[in-house]
Amino acid sequence: MLKLGIIGTNWITAQFVDAAKESGQYELTAVYSRHVETAQEFAGKENPDAALFTDLEKFFASSAFDTVYIASPNSLHAQQAIAALTAGKNVIVEKPMVASQSELEAVTAALKAHPKQFLFEAARHLYEPNFQLVKQFVQKNDISGATLVYMKYSSKYDAYLAGKQPNVFTTKFAGGALMDLGVYLVYAALAWFGVPEKASYAPAILASGVDGSGALHLDYPDFSVNLICGKTTQSHLPSEIYTGKDTLVIDAPESISSIEHIVPGAKSTQLAGKQDKNPMIREAQFFADAIQNADYAARDRQFALAQQVHTLITQVRTQAGIQFPNDAQ
Ligand SMILES: NC(=O)c1ccc[n+]([C@@H]2O[C@H](COP(=O)([O-])OP(=O)(O)OC[C@H]3O[C@@H](n4cnc5c(N)ncnc54)[C@H](OP(=O)(O)O)[C@@H]3O)[C@@H](O)[C@H]2O)c1
Repeated sequence: MLKLGIIGTNWITAQFVDAAKESGQYELTAVYSRHVETAQEFAGKENPDAALFTDLEKFFASSAFDTVYIASPNSLHAQQAIAALTAGKNVIVEKPMVASQSELEAVTAALKAHPKQFLFEAARHLYEPNFQLVKQFVQKNDISGATLVYMKYSSKYDAYLAGKQPNVFTTKFAGGALMDLGVYLVYAALAWFGVPEKASYAPAILASGVDGSGALHLDYPDFSVNLICGKTTQSHLPSEIYTGKDTLVIDAPESISSIEHIVPGAKSTQLAGKQDKNPMIREAQFFADAIQNADYAARDRQFALAQQVHTLITQVRTQAGIQFPNDAQ
């Protein structure tokens, strides 16, 4: 049984803790929050024995937990992941794992310096069976191209328009469409099609300096892939993968519930299976299995993909003129 500590007390952490408990492989034993009341509230009646912390150094120094789930604002992920590795903890860090090239290098060095520990980026869609079904389809067919879309009107955009500064709409916290939602599409493209030869990003940049939306173009030797992400509008477009005259229509790459194979002149086929109730259950199981079975090959495979994803994201983001304070560190 893994002893789980958490950083960040928003709804996503509650969802991960529920998935972790449902897996039967974790117990919540430590909660960090900037405010003791929030930590108490998060631990609640269900976790009366969880140790509560408001000091991050004391949290990492504590033996109350062995594995930490980090769901703080994006700009803090790398430094907290490195502090956790240095303190001897396993790390599950929310997407995006890093917010700059230098942070990617620092996290890579920290993992190398602590070879017995585990670090996973919580790119939850990778672990869902429907995501793997698409991967199998791509492996069996000659791909002619793809268009992947994730545009969602953010629950925090109204606050931004009203003059507030929600973390995810600031450069200070490494926000924006590419970092928040585009990362799911980049993961899908690289997991399904591999690393492209060339990539470029055309963003619509908000006054705050982050991208409200954008189109990412990936060039492969025989085809190209277009990724469209955004937080300032709501899209109802599906995503598509093309193979000659056939089309695979996917409802949403970040959370696939429908995969329709359309062949001209034939009845279309539905390939998707039923989704899990808690979308984080598969990743929670995968991470716990890897840690408990000392499966370093799984760790290294997933980390190599994360490195490719963040190398590409950092490159296209900085080329598009989107700068974060993390770039200068
Ligand atoms: N995998 C998924 O499906 C999914 C879904 C949503 C979000 N996420 C990821 O989860 C992470 C958190 O997202 P979120 O929307 O919950 O972010 P958020 O509301 O900006 O912050 C998350 C938590 O960090 C702490 N925090 C807030 N502002 C802070 C600040 N200025 N300095 C230090 N700590 C601060 C808060 O916890 P305390 O008040 O307790 O300190 C808060 O609950 C992001 O990286 C996001 O990409 C993933």
